[in-house]
Amino acid sequence: MKTLLLEINQKYIDHQKIQYAANIICRGGLVAFPTETVYGLGADALNAKAISRLFEAKKRPFDNPPIIHLADAKAVYPLVMHVPKKTRQLMEQFWPGPLTLIFKHSKTIPNETVANLDTIAIRVPKHKVAQALLKQVNRPIAAPSANLSGKPSPTIAQHVIDDLNGSIDAIIDSGATDIGVESTVVDLSVEPPLLLRPGGTPYEALKKVIDDLELHPFVQTETELIFEKFSSPGMKHKHYAPKAEVILVEGSIQAVQAKISTIAQSFKQNGQRVGILATDETQLAYHADVVKSLGSRFNLDAIAQNLFGFLREIDAKNVDVILAESISSEGLGLAIMNRLRKASGYHIIKAE
Ligand code: TXA
Ligand code: MG
Repeated sequence: MKTLLLEINQKYIDHQKIQYAANIICRGGLVAFPTETVYGLGADALNAKAISRLFEAKKRPFDNPPIIHLADAKAVYPLVMHVPKKTRQLMEQFWPGPLTLIFKHSKTIPNETVANLDTIAIRVPKHKVAQALLKQVNRPIAAPSANLSGKPSPTIAQHVIDDLNGSIDAIIDSGATDIGVESTVVDLSVEPPLLLRPGGTPYEALKKVIDDLELHPFVQTETELIFEKFSSPGMKHKHYAPKAEVILVEGSIQAVQAKISTIAQSFKQNGQRVGILATDETQLAYHADVVKSLGSRFNLDAIAQNLFGFLREIDAKNVDVILAESISSEGLGLAIMNRLRKASGYHIIKAE
């Protein structure tokens, strides 16, 4: 299959191209498109065949359902049993935006789309191109991140090309996504409400509206959790695991820098190639085969934007080990640290 590339500038949207992409989705095809978080791989959520193709293209396990994207909050009502008050408050305050909410669905959606669960994950994205596409399609679009299962989510169209070229119908290229990590996933169908995946909407901001919102233990775990604790299907699947061994070093910045230097040295003495994911404040202090700064430790927005792309890049450099620094867990930092911990397979070293 030849994958069509459609460049669409989000400031001057070419509605002919949007129409073209929308037609592909309405005919059961697969179109990757930008959202404010990461690129998604879109398919008609009401078409079971299209959903099967979606899972196949991503090589995604069939028991891990995609997020359903809608043009606006009103479109939620036919798809769900009811909208609890707290959920409505979050919808009002955070949609459109990087927040996914879990609902009990109304069984109008094919079983394939919801992986036979009685709940459904929904979000209304803010990105202008995603909005234009959703409006044109005028039905729910299932869109998991547009990467091969097990790879970091794509933040530029080239990442989608690298993973899915030849196995999907089209890719809309609108440049780099704004946020760089996926949406925050919140489940209000349970008591107390749980944050299942930290992401683009900070926990602190959600807590202001839902004061009993708790972090699922998986969000901050430092070890592999036992199976019974999983409450999001995505939690039990192996996430991004680079070819190289990843070691995450946590602690104060001075301690982390010293520890990483020592570890790098000992790997080098064994003749191994070392990559370091550093920050602007520390990168000059390191000696390794590859040193990349994710940005300033005081600019979590930049670190989130760079994270997935840099993980892909450093992996392509064929290092044997990647040493990563911990950063603050506040705001977007919680999502960044969660992705780094997962990438390390919970190989975490405390530096003191
Ligand atoms: O930012 C994002 O959310 C991106 C963009 C494209 O919108 N999408 C995304 O989708 O990250 P995906 O499919 O890669 O991740 C969806 C996550 C998975 O961890 C999945 O297990 C969880 O949401 N999920 C889906 N349905 C669920 C449900 N009914 N209950 C709990 N978790 C669910
Ligand atoms: Mg994903």
